[in-house]
Amino acid sequence: MQYPLQGKTALVTGASRGIGRAIVQRLAADGALVAIHYGGNDAAANETLKGIEQEGGQAFLLKAELRVHGNIDTMFSQLEKGLTGRPLDILVNNAAVAPQVSPDQTTPEEFDRIFAINVRAPFFIIQRVLPLMPDGGRIINISSGVTWFATPATAYSMTKGALNVLGRSLANSLGSRNITVNTISPGITDTDMNPSIRDKDAKAVERVAGMTALGRPGCPADIADAVAFFASDDARWITGQTLDVNGGLFLGPRGE
Ligand SMILES: NC(=O)c1ccc[n+]([C@@H]2O[C@H](COP(=O)([O-])OP(=O)(O)OC[C@H]3O[C@@H](n4cnc5c(N)ncnc54)[C@H](OP(=O)(O)O)[C@@H]3O)[C@@H](O)[C@H]2O)c1
Repeated sequence: MQYPLQGKTALVTGASRGIGRAIVQRLAADGALVAIHYGGNDAAANETLKGIEQEGGQAFLLKAELRVHGNIDTMFSQLEKGLTGRPLDILVNNAAVAPQVSPDQTTPEEFDRIFAINVRAPFFIIQRVLPLMPDGGRIINISSGVTWFATPATAYSMTKGALNVLGRSLANSLGSRNITVNTISPGITDTDMNPSIRDKDAKAVERVAGMTALGRPGCPADIADAVAFFASDDARWITGQTLDVNGGLFLGPRGE
C-alpha cells in the first residue's frame, strides 16, 4: 500500500486534544513521522501518542508552554532529537487559546497572553522551522471563521486575523523555495474549545446546525482531512490561500 506522506515528517502544535489530535492522527495514518506538541496536559498527549502507535504510526511528544517565548528553544531541542537528523517537511500551527472575553473585560495582560500564544509563537516557530525545512515543504496555519464574522471575543478574533496576513505574506516570500503556506479556518467544531457542543447540549448543537448548510457542528476529523490535503502533493500548486472548512457556516437564511 502507498502512503501519501511516507518518509515525511511533521510538527503539529497543540496536538494533544481536539483538532490538533485529529491532525496528527491523520498525518501519521498517511505515513508521516509526527511530532505531537502540547502545552501541559500530559494525560491527553500520552493518549494521543498511544493511539497513533497502536495504529502502527510513528510519533513523539514535545511539551512546551507557548506563552513563554524561551520555551520555543526547549521545543526545538526536543524536536531535533526526535527527528534524529531528518528534515521537517510539514508544520501545522494549530495551538491556540480562545478566552471568551469581551473588549471591556480584556486586561492588557490577557491581551498579551492571547497574542503570545496565538500569534507570536507561530511566527517564531516558523522562523525556527525554516532552516530545518527542505524546499517543497508545507506550512499550514489554523485560523478561524471569526476573521469574517463578529463575536464578542475580539482579541481572539484579532489574533486569527494576524495569522491570515502572516499566511499570505509568507507564501509570497517562500515561493522561491517552493514552500507552500496556506491557512485553514474551521467553523464551530466539537472540541474542548466549545464546551456546550462537546457536551452535546441539545440547544447549542441545534443552534449551530441551524446556521450551517450541512446541518451539524464540525468534528475534528473534518478539519484534519483538509489539512492532510494541503500537506499532500495534490496541493503543490496552492499557496497563500485561506480555506473555510465549516460545513457552509452563515451562507444565508436556511429553508424550513
Ligand atoms: N474548536 C473550534 O470550534 C474552532 C473554531 C475555529 C478555529 N479553531 C482553531 O483550531 C485550533 C485548535 O482548536 P481546538 O478547538 O482543537 O482547541 P483545544 O481542544 O482547546 O486544544 C488546544 C490545544 O492547544 C494546546 N495549547 C493551548 N494553549 C497552549 C499553550 N499556552 N502552550 C502550548 N500549547 C497550548 C493544548 O495543549 P494542552 O492539551 O497541553 O493544554 C491543546 O493541545 C485553534 O487554533 C483554534 O483557534 C477552533
